[in-house]
Amino acid sequence: MKGLTNKRVFITGAASGIGRATAERFYAEGAELVLIDMPTLELAELSALFPNRMSYIQGDVTKAETLSLVKAEIDKGIDVIVNNAGITRDATLLKMTDDQWDSVIAVNLTAIFKLSRMAAEKMKAAGKGGVILNAASVVAHYGNFGQTNYSATKAGVIAMTKTMAKELGKDKIRVNAIAPGFIATPMVQKMPEKVLAMMEDKASLKRLGQPSDIAAAYAFLASEDAAYITGTCLNVDGGTILG
Ligand SMILES: NC(=O)c1ccc[n+]([C@@H]2O[C@H](COP(=O)([O-])OP(=O)(O)OC[C@H]3O[C@@H](n4cnc5c(N)ncnc54)[C@H](O)[C@@H]3O)[C@@H](O)[C@H]2O)c1
Repeated sequence: MKGLTNKRVFITGAASGIGRATAERFYAEGAELVLIDMPTLELAELSALFPNRMSYIQGDVTKAETLSLVKAEIDKGIDVIVNNAGITRDATLLKMTDDQWDSVIAVNLTAIFKLSRMAAEKMKAAGKGGVILNAASVVAHYGNFGQTNYSATKAGVIAMTKTMAKELGKDKIRVNAIAPGFIATPMVQKMPEKVLAMMEDKASLKRLGQPSDIAAAYAFLASEDAAYITGTCLNVDGGTILG
C-alpha cells in the first residue's frame, strides 16, 4: 500500500489477535513499529519477528506511568496510531457490576481519548499530518446481549472518531474507525462452540473474520490510498451487519 514505508506506527494491544496481525501487516509494508501491550512475554518475543524496525512498551494503557512512556516515544515522532487495545467484561445489565462497567470504559474509551490527544498534539506540532485509527465493533450499531458496557464504548468510539476528524482535518490529521464483525482471536475463541457457529451463520460470507482481514483494512486506512477518507467507520464484518 502507498506511503507506509518508514512511517512510525504505534499499535496498542499488539501482542495478540488483531493487534498482532496489524503489526505484521504494517511491518510488511515497511513501517517502523512501536508496540504497546500489557507486560507479557509475547511482546518481547515479537522483537525477533520484527528485526530492526520495532520497539515496545510493556504497560497498561489505563495507567499514567504507561502513558508517560508512550508520550516519550511519541515525542520522538509519530505518523500513525492504531488504538486497538480493548477488553470485554460481559454480564447482563442487572448483573453487571460497577467494576465491570468502569474497567471496560477505561480501556476501550478513556485510553483512546488520552492516546489520541497525545498523538494529535505531536502530529499538529510536527506539521506533517498523521493518521489516528480506532477499534470500534459491529455491536456499536445493534448492541449485543451481555455487553451494555462494551457496546457503549464502541458506539462512543465511532462518535469520538467523527468529532476528532472534524477538529483535526485542518491539520491534515485523518481519523477513522473500523468496526470488525466476529474475528477469530482469543477474545472470541473463548466463546462456546454454539455461539461461534451462530456468529459464522450471521455473516453473509458464512465464516468468522481473520485478524489479517482487519489488519489489511487498518493498513489501507493508514496509507496514502485513503488520503481523502476521514471521519468514517468501516465495517469489516463479512456482511454481519446486514442481518
Ligand atoms: N475479535 C473480535 O471479534 C472483535 C470484534 C470487534 C471489535 N474487536 C476489537 O478489536 C480490538 C482487538 O481485539 P482482539 O480480538 O484482537 O482482542 P485480544 O484479546 O486478542 O487482544 C487484545 C490485546 O489488547 C491488550 N490489552 C487489553 N487491555 C489492555 C490495556 N489496558 N493496556 C494495554 N494492552 C491491553 C491485551 O493484552 C491483548 O493483547 C479490541 O478493541 C476489540 O474490542 C474485536
